[in-house]
Amino acid sequence: MPGLIRQALRFRVTSLSSAGRVTLGPVVTRGKVVELRPPVAADAVEWSRLVRPERDRLEPRWADSDLDWVTRSSADAWRDRCAELRRLARDGTALPFLITVDGAIAGELLLDRVDRERGSAEVEVWISEAREGTSITASALRLLLHHAFGEYELRRLTAAIPVGDRSAAALFSRAGFRREGLLRGYRRTADYELWSLLATDRPDESISDLPIVSAMDVPSSGRGFERSSALQRRLHELVPGGAHTYARGSDQYPEDMAPVLVRGDGSRVWDADGNCFIEYGMGLRSVTLGHGYRPVLDAVQRALADGVNFSRPTQLEVAAAEDFLSLVPGADMVKFAKNGSDATTAAIRLARAATGRDMVVVCDQPFFSADDWFIGAVEMNAGVPEATRGQTVRFQFNDLDSLRLRFAESGGQIACVVMEAATALAEPEPGFLEGVRALCDTHGALLVFDEMITGFRWSASGAQSVYGVRPDLSCWGKAMGNGFPISALAGRRDLMELGGLRTDSPRVFLLSTTHGPETVSLAAFRSVVQAYTEGDPIGVMERRGTELAEGVNAAARELGVTDYVAAIGRPSCLVFTTRDEDGRPSQPYRTLFLQEMLRRGVLGQSFVISAAHTVADVEHTVQAVREALVVYRRALEDGGVERFLAGRPVAPALRSLASPRRL
Ligand SMILES: Cc1ncc(COP(=O)(O)O)c(C=O)c1O
Repeated sequence: MPGLIRQALRFRVTSLSSAGRVTLGPVVTRGKVVELRPPVAADAVEWSRLVRPERDRLEPRWADSDLDWVTRSSADAWRDRCAELRRLARDGTALPFLITVDGAIAGELLLDRVDRERGSAEVEVWISEAREGTSITASALRLLLHHAFGEYELRRLTAAIPVGDRSAAALFSRAGFRREGLLRGYRRTADYELWSLLATDRPDESISDLPIVSAMDVPSSGRGFERSSALQRRLHELVPGGAHTYARGSDQYPEDMAPVLVRGDGSRVWDADGNCFIEYGMGLRSVTLGHGYRPVLDAVQRALADGVNFSRPTQLEVAAAEDFLSLVPGADMVKFAKNGSDATTAAIRLARAATGRDMVVVCDQPFFSADDWFIGAVEMNAGVPEATRGQTVRFQFNDLDSLRLRFAESGGQIACVVMEAATALAEPEPGFLEGVRALCDTHGALLVFDEMITGFRWSASGAQSVYGVRPDLSCWGKAMGNGFPISALAGRRDLMELGGLRTDSPRVFLLSTTHGPETVSLAAFRSVVQAYTEGDPIGVMERRGTELAEGVNAAARELGVTDYVAAIGRPSCLVFTTRDEDGRPSQPYRTLFLQEMLRRGVLGQSFVISAAHTVADVEHTVQAVREALVVYRRALEDGGVERFLAGRPVAPALRSLASPRRL
């Protein structure tokens, strides 16, 4: 089925009563959570709320019915139908389900005329006009088949399809049904085709394009970490630190619980042992639309076919630059590169050239670049010359006096102020950013905004548009390509031209790399821009993030541990706190929390979400948190994690010594 996103969630069968009524699913199809569940009385109310005034009815789609659905437009009528369905279920001759999409009723699926002696039943599918779509129905059907043959032990299913209903025929055919013949004058004298499916000849391939539901897709680490651990050991032999980014290192995870991944899909990742996890953090915040986001992949594939790297600029570079500058109205020119660090380092060089000064003031925020000018200012600074270290000084966020002091101390030597306008945990106080802007202007320094995280998470136009303060230069990366490597330096024309040909000043070597204009990432970027123009990924991330924070914090309340664990920060960029018995941030307790979450199929050093995270993902995560907090509380009561933690605690990524996680 072209375009169907193959992604599956946990598969759940919950027995509800002795009549064997069950809830099946969920599966995710096209980002929507599809479930089958038995109708309950309260559905009448929901149905009457959901019906659209102009078309307030369910239409028969792939089967006829004795019931007059067209008139079932009121809560009363729906209540009657629910009661009817429950009656059918009670006598065991029918198994009624409501098809729900993201929790809302979308239709009905009925396993009718169930004959367990003969092992046969009939299938009817109804779907509301508002929710019509093969992918949703296919998911519902897939869930039903799994149940009917597996749990209900039926051997033969039949479906009557109105003659000429090609989409229904295609759907049932893909599910493995075979056309058996014509039913002349069947049901109200209309003609139908009879299709059937036997349990024994249900070829798996015939339903391979429907969402796959299997134990593999239940988020958990039940398969253990044996293969991941072996691969991790090999990585340590081959790659210093066993990862290409310190933040991805095994020392950032509980010992022997560092999954080595093989693939991702939406919000999910799978590891070498076959475990499935809901992921948070999303490639160090570089993925906002979800892994394997189809439109980006399609754009990339189209670009690939035409070659990726040439001796002269491509048309794509014009289009991508236009896209970028239309998003960021404060910038006049842009230059693309691969890494965020390249962009911030270029901003520093440009600021130094433009001002003739050497000193840089950076805000006390975690990270700006992998290059010497910044690494000299962190704890892990071996190899950075003393002279370089002395050229970068810090000031405090939301503290204008600390910046004033830096300017006063520097003797007019500050070339630029580099900062994130906001972080997940710190919003600028009123007047702060304006104050920074004014101080820069007074002292002739440039203001550089690092939009690496804020770009495409706060707004596609960056924090500068959210807070209304225009920097001289801004640096972008991370989510620009939904994981593909692309970054950008943008800014005022008079500054940017110092790296161009419209200048008589000494030229600045401003971002010039072999792979800078490689077409794949530019195509990915353009597709990301389109996704943000046509949809609202930030709104989705904010809604899901809010639900997640509320769920996590409610779980912490339930267990009485709010002083120790909390989801905090901007909803699109949440982090969690892990404090010890004395309320101090604690690496051992962080490790315990990570360990318990990994055990329950959640992989994340933060709760940074994507627009692909579903309501069901959030529910699973909150349940995992609830269970993890039971262990966490026991450790608090015990006075420490020792009895609960399997290995050594994690340690900060940029520490100066390998200890306490030396291999
Ligand atoms: C705020 C910020 N700026 C710059 C960078 C550097 O980006 P890159 O890792 O792409 O070089 C990072 C990376 O984590 C970052 O978080």
